Amino acid sequence: MAKKIIAIDGPAASGKSTTAKMVAKRLGFLYLDTGAMYRAITLKALELGVDVNDEEKLENLTKNSVINFENKDGTSRIWMDGKDVTEKIREPEVDRNVSYVSMHEKVRRVLVKMQKRMGEENDLVAEGRDTTTVVFPHAFKVYLDADLEERAKRRFLELKEKGIQTSLKEQSEEISRRDKLDSEREQSPLLRDKDAVVVNTTHLTIEQQVDRVIQLFLQNVAAEA
Ligand code: DC
Repeated sequence: MAKKIIAIDGPAASGKSTTAKMVAKRLGFLYLDTGAMYRAITLKALELGVDVNDEEKLENLTKNSVINFENKDGTSRIWMDGKDVTEKIREPEVDRNVSYVSMHEKVRRVLVKMQKRMGEENDLVAEGRDTTTVVFPHAFKVYLDADLEERAKRRFLELKEKGIQTSLKEQSEEISRRDKLDSEREQSPLLRDKDAVVVNTTHLTIEQQVDRVIQLFLQNVAAEA
């Protein structure tokens, strides 16, 4: 039987990860964080001293990478080549470089193939930038959005909680820089798929976002039955 897939795209810090993770937990689906895969490749490239503009070398590095996810008790951990890199991929240096790595078509092709395979084997909630448009075009699709200021505030608080010093202004600049790179790049830019349901999370709590996505998904399942 075809697997059930919910695909959630949206800009940085729109609430995708938290929402997708909680929706997956409530439905008992696998949570697939595609951004974490681009981050893991970026981290590996930085550690090995591979130039983030060298597409061929990055393609090779990606093909030779084994990425695994482990979902347990509502948390999700990511392993690169047998090493848990869950925390490391969130460091500012990865933040600064990941948009360059994810620009390369050859890197994307390898990662998209891995993602599609996971979708053939599991009911899942995928989140990223191109999960509604490229990776899972037949999924139930959601586009999460929120105002830039609210997104900067969320990212600032998230980093503060981890003890990473930054400022609201810095986060606002960093997020708008990434929005621009993610939306204007040639390969799979961040786009709102025409079939995606838009959920603006600026004034929603996490619980409300999760309830809304599940409600919309169940309505869709009922309508298709
Ligand atoms: O969602 P995130 O901030 O963890 O994503 C990290 C970067 O990876 C982001 O700058 C865009 C890129 N990305 C992508 O190009 N395609 C995806 N499906 C997911 C993320």
